[in-house]
Amino acid sequence: KSVAIVGCPFSGGQTKAGVDKGPIYLVEAGLPQQLADLGWQVQFDGHHQFEEISAASDPPIGKLKNPRFVSKVCQAVAQVVGGHAKKGQLPLTLGGDHSLAMGTISGTLDTYPDACLVWVDAHADINTPQTTDSGNIHGMPVSFLLGLDTSVPEFAWVKPNLKPNKLVYIGLRDIDAGEKKILRENGIKAFSMHEVDKWGIGKVVEMALDHVNPKRESPIHLSFDVDALDPSVAPSTGTPVRGGLTFREGHYICEAIYETGCLVALDIMEVNPSLADAASAVQTVAVGCSLARSALGETLL
Ligand code: ARG
Ligand code: MN
Ligand code: MN
Ligand code: MN
Repeated sequence: KSVAIVGCPFSGGQTKAGVDKGPIYLVEAGLPQQLADLGWQVQFDGHHQFEEISAASDPPIGKLKNPRFVSKVCQAVAQVVGGHAKKGQLPLTLGGDHSLAMGTISGTLDTYPDACLVWVDAHADINTPQTTDSGNIHGMPVSFLLGLDTSVPEFAWVKPNLKPNKLVYIGLRDIDAGEKKILRENGIKAFSMHEVDKWGIGKVVEMALDHVNPKRESPIHLSFDVDALDPSVAPSTGTPVRGGLTFREGHYICEAIYETGCLVALDIMEVNPSLADAASAVQTVAVGCSLARSALGETLL
């Protein structure tokens, strides 16, 4: 078993500085060695270098901020992730902001067309260029993957390969009005924090997998935004929302998905060590590492 760490020091999908440092801190905290200690063969060729596009040459398209830069980076990430997946490696992408998932999931679906997507997040990240308020593309990757809006030519390379019934959310609690409408109209399954409170995380993960992967035999891409966790657990992130997953609930999701044996790709996104204080940054980086370890087979016993 072989994991390829794809470090993506990228922040162009949102406007707060520092999320580009996330992957650097995660690697410096020892994640590659930790995964090797779990028995993985670890490939890490250094963090990705993205060709900067100056803000001057990347004006907004409609409301979209840094559209050309985000598009180019995600297209490159799709190639890298898809390349590792095709070699039979499990790509572990370290963000960076969540717009990167447009790339990672494109790479996964290109390799495994029947893969399903488990999106763990406080947010649905399913705004379209029409519905977005912020213009931050990290709030939109899922809409591009579903092909909900094809009006922006810069993103025409994103194939609409994700089907609404192959996507499930866990942890939601801050959904924009336009996003609620999209979720409803497309019949997308979502377990918000309300459902986590009601059923408990064990039942929620079981129901989520029953929806996207009833026989537990199709490949799973897990995209984990650390802001799914409560801000007391993962404080250093750009868009924290109170009332989130506990430390154990977050790790349980990772453990349960590992146990299916179906995990083919993993994203750990939105760690921003520049936000909150130094101790919070250390804590958030440590949580990012332990989520990745849980998804890759670390057990408590
Ligand atoms: N819904 C808000 C927006 O579209 C927040 C998105 C936050 N996304 C994230 N990946 N942290 O701007
Ligand atoms: Mn989020
Ligand atoms: Mn919001
Ligand atoms: Mn997100």
